[in-house]
Amino acid sequence: MTSEPTEAFVWTWLPGAEEPVVAGRLELAGGTVDYNYGRSYLSRDDAIPLYLPELPLRVGTIAPLPGLTVPGCIKDAGPDAWGQRVVMQHLLGAGAQDGDPAALGPLTYLLRSGSDRIGALDFQERPDLYVDRDEMSATLADLMQAADAVNEGRILPRALDLALLHGSSVGGARPKALLEDGGRALIAKFSASTDTYPIVKGEFAAMELAARVGLTVAHVELRQVMGRDVLLVERFDRVPRTKQRRAVLSALTILELDELMARYASYADLAQIVRERFVDARATLRELFARIVFNILTGNSDDHARNHAAFWDGQWLALTPAYDICPQPRAGGETSQAMMIGADGFRMSQLAGCVQRAATYMLTEGEARDLIAHQVQVIERDWAEICDAARMTAVDRSFFWRRQFLNPYAFDGYSAIPA
Ligand SMILES: Nc1ncnc2c1ncn2[C@@H]1O[C@H](COP(=O)(O)OP(=O)(O)OP(=O)(O)O)[C@@H](O)[C@H]1O
Ligand SMILES: [Mg+2]
Repeated sequence: MTSEPTEAFVWTWLPGAEEPVVAGRLELAGGTVDYNYGRSYLSRDDAIPLYLPELPLRVGTIAPLPGLTVPGCIKDAGPDAWGQRVVMQHLLGAGAQDGDPAALGPLTYLLRSGSDRIGALDFQERPDLYVDRDEMSATLADLMQAADAVNEGRILPRALDLALLHGSSVGGARPKALLEDGGRALIAKFSASTDTYPIVKGEFAAMELAARVGLTVAHVELRQVMGRDVLLVERFDRVPRTKQRRAVLSALTILELDELMARYASYADLAQIVRERFVDARATLRELFARIVFNILTGNSDDHARNHAAFWDGQWLALTPAYDICPQPRAGGETSQAMMIGADGFRMSQLAGCVQRAATYMLTEGEARDLIAHQVQVIERDWAEICDAARMTAVDRSFFWRRQFLNPYAFDGYSAIPA
């Protein structure tokens, strides 16, 4: 067991900057992680708060918001279930196989995961020296095999272990790695041997269709590596051909929740925050409503608050492109979304209920119906073509169609013509 550090320094890439500066210090005390801005940072003219309201620019110790143990904006920059497994495997080797992530403390996960993390933050042991922890590179095939080894609890050769560690700071539960390709920063998402259906093909199809229905969505490509599917997702938190990093916050943080409270996350609450704190509120609300509808039409019930995010410039929020639109397994018809769609707690995966709540998203019922009709029409029109692009077999296609994609349950009680 490694000893748990009690402090870590937060470094940040300010908007437009190519190099990081030290912003402050995290301290683990009595189970919570507190934050202090450094005086050098507070005295900068271009300093921005790491996030508001949780970390305002001021002298002194700032505790996490009520109910949280770590500030949300810090947690967003750290590993989640997948990355924690990679870090555990790296530090504990065979000892990681019991798999309890609590074997390591929160600052260990921040300090020992890769530096190329989502957003504009990194964590360091020192305030005066920045050490980039990402020297290793590897091929996609190597990274995929390394991810398999972690999934199966096998010990990795050192070079692969380090290459996989590079991507360990990226959140989420699925196996993944980071890579660069022709100057593009990419997230590679792998299949797992425990998958019961072609999940990578399903995610590719949904992301492609999302772009076609007009959502703003991260660009994806499907690759075959050693006969297996890999989804490559272009990162939106990097500025191509520069070393700049864009600050990103999850909707979970914006809603002032953590994973233990994730079931209280609500699109309706997010919509209220969009009205108050986002650029282009009206267009953003329409996009948010369109994403809810699309999640319903493609069976993505895993639309939890870490699967939505916003850019942060120190003052305003701006919705990021959509990502992780991944059709989920479902037994029968009835299902619900991970976030509540209505202020009344409504969360069923049904269009009729969405349309009734269109006003929450500054849309009329007619506008909501037109938006739905357009999405359905494009999905029906392009389905076969997308299946070809995803190299789906006839069995794959019939598995997804009318089960994840355009499940009849979504249309229960919904008529295209206003009643
Ligand atoms: N295109 C992107 N650009 C920047 N960051 C991204 C992008 N796609 C995903 N991310 C970040 O990486 C995290 C993990 O990605 P993703 O949600 O696709 O993984 P996952 O393992 O499928 O997640 P889950 O556990 O929700 O199934 C996201 O929560 C988000 O912070
Ligand atoms: Mg996710």
